[in-house]
Amino acid sequence: MSKINEVLSYLEEGRAKAKCRHHPEGTLMKAIVYHKYGSPDVLKLEEVEMPTPTDDEVLIRIHAVSINGSDREGLIGKPLYARLGGLRKPGYPILGSDIAGRVERIGKNITQFQPGDEVFGEIPGYHGGFAEYACASEKTLARKPASLTFEVAAAIPQAGVIAWNGIREKGQVQPGQHVLINGAGGSAGMFAVQLAKLYGAEVTGVDNTGKLDFMRSLGADHVIDYTREDFTKNRKQYDLILDVIAHRSAFAYRRALKPNGTYFFVGGSVATLFQILLLGPWIQRTTGRNIRLLAVPQNSRDLISITELCETGKIVPVIDRGYSLSEVPEALRYVAEGRAKGKVVITVQQSVDK
Ligand SMILES: NC(=O)c1ccc[n+]([C@@H]2O[C@H](COP(=O)([O-])OP(=O)(O)OC[C@H]3O[C@@H](n4cnc5c(N)ncnc54)[C@H](OP(=O)(O)O)[C@@H]3O)[C@@H](O)[C@H]2O)c1
Repeated sequence: MSKINEVLSYLEEGRAKAKCRHHPEGTLMKAIVYHKYGSPDVLKLEEVEMPTPTDDEVLIRIHAVSINGSDREGLIGKPLYARLGGLRKPGYPILGSDIAGRVERIGKNITQFQPGDEVFGEIPGYHGGFAEYACASEKTLARKPASLTFEVAAAIPQAGVIAWNGIREKGQVQPGQHVLINGAGGSAGMFAVQLAKLYGAEVTGVDNTGKLDFMRSLGADHVIDYTREDFTKNRKQYDLILDVIAHRSAFAYRRALKPNGTYFFVGGSVATLFQILLLGPWIQRTTGRNIRLLAVPQNSRDLISITELCETGKIVPVIDRGYSLSEVPEALRYVAEGRAKGKVVITVQQSVDK
């Protein structure tokens, strides 16, 4: 039962909350909209109604928004959990979750922010950020440090909080431990490699051929090209595996773990997720190896923790490329082609003046 609750809260934290909050007030904004799952070709720049904040929300004028694996998944509707907002067509027409901008208006229950404040964070439901304005809960927002640009701040939230949870908060990485990060050249992986090195681990990064040098530049001690080698079949074992793109069996992950080691499923195939939920507890009882889902709550506390490391330069949010709002389809195409190293960030052009 607790496993079911874990999955339900994981889903509730994210995509299940994908409800349309756009209440027509007559004011239009530009947004990148999609009405069916597919390639970046289904994305269109349109004028849509501006969202209105509820009593518990903040309306933000977006200056920058970054792309995550969740946008790629939400666009194509795969894995299946990406369709939780809408099975046949997207439940919410605008993708984009990690934003940085200025508070425009606040709901009446908001206590931490005022209009004009510079903020950044995740939008609950992972939707609505590829637009000039979006609403978010104050629980997932933080004040943007003056030392970080809007672009750098937008690069941190989802990926940084996943890495913080996987490596530090729940992973509790210790000096000398062997840590493997699967998908290390992408958004969360880029933060995770640096964090694991910061806490003294020996780090192995796994990603495609074009990202091997990038992973080394982040500090990875060893790199594996997933197109040539399966890290679960090379007889090496790790204290911690952080997997942002899981698609193997629970037994394969067991093989790659040291006794008492931990494997975290962050994202990937639903078949793998269910195997891990069903077999993980049994594998732990019989072998001591901990194979489980890492449910990452969207929250400002963890966001502030990882951002403090970015402010001091201990962690560098690497931005591969920047695009404008109208170029979101091109940006997502670049990411989908497997070329993005670290983060891709959209600088949003404003057309509605205060
Ligand atoms: N657990 C939670 O609570 C939670 C919360 C939020 C998000 N998520 C999930 O977390 C994941 C986050 O991913 P992200 O934003 O870091 O994604 P990302 O930026 O797309 O990075 C994924 C990386 O993995 C690489 N990759 C693809 N196939 C691979 C394979 N077979 N082996 C190794 N690497 C491979 C990708 O390279 P290519 O370019 O070659 O594809 C890419 O570099 C998403 O699935 C999202 O849904 C989970």
